[in-house]
Amino acid sequence: SKKAFIFDLDGVIVDTAKYHFLAWQKIAKSLNINFAHEDNELLKGVSRVRSLDIILGLGNVQATQEQKDQWLIQKNEDYLSYLVDMDESEVLPGVLKILKLLKDKNQGIALGSASKNARPILEKTGVLSYFNVIVDGNDVTNAKPDPEVFLKAAQLLNIDPKDSIVFEDSVAGIQAANIGEMVSVGIGEETILHEADYIFKDFTQITADFIEKLIN
Ligand code: BG6
Ligand code: MG
Repeated sequence: SKKAFIFDLDGVIVDTAKYHFLAWQKIAKSLNINFAHEDNELLKGVSRVRSLDIILGLGNVQATQEQKDQWLIQKNEDYLSYLVDMDESEVLPGVLKILKLLKDKNQGIALGSASKNARPILEKTGVLSYFNVIVDGNDVTNAKPDPEVFLKAAQLLNIDPKDSIVFEDSVAGIQAANIGEMVSVGIGEETILHEADYIFKDFTQITADFIEKLIN
């Protein structure tokens, strides 16, 4: 039967986590805040505004709203500068095969991302046309682990949450899917994503057979 397959963007479809990290690190450095690669896990799936608060918290830095707004603008400008040359080659291994399979099987395909840069990234990487529905950081008020973004996506596809499958690389995203009573599929490390119903290292590990079972 028809299901909703909901994809997170950053770290699931494209490997943009590294660019988010570089841009945040630049801000952190300029504020003398020690922001290491391990700390980046805390920011996955988290909105831009909340990410800045987390970084400022790491350095115990107080700031005015005006300063924060400035840093948020700066961060996004730097982030976008890393995306200028982005193309199809940055779609993560195995993703296209699964998108094609789902399309062939006439399944609902949605994006469920916290990012406000989702559309241009999907365009640049050539996968925009696979998505029936896009729900991103411009459409939601409650950040993951609140399930709003995924519930909205399922609703727009006209499919029950319990018939929805979420692909996520972040802990907050897996929790959001679980709270929304959807099937959660973690993409990444088992040690980090252990709350997921299923875990795969990446999309090359997801078989047609597995998708078939989810659909039937
Ligand atoms: C999430 C990323 O998908 O989107 C976070 O995992 C990012 O790292 C968040 O901060 C917001 O993205 P953007 O592109 O609106 O800054
Ligand atoms: Mg992600």
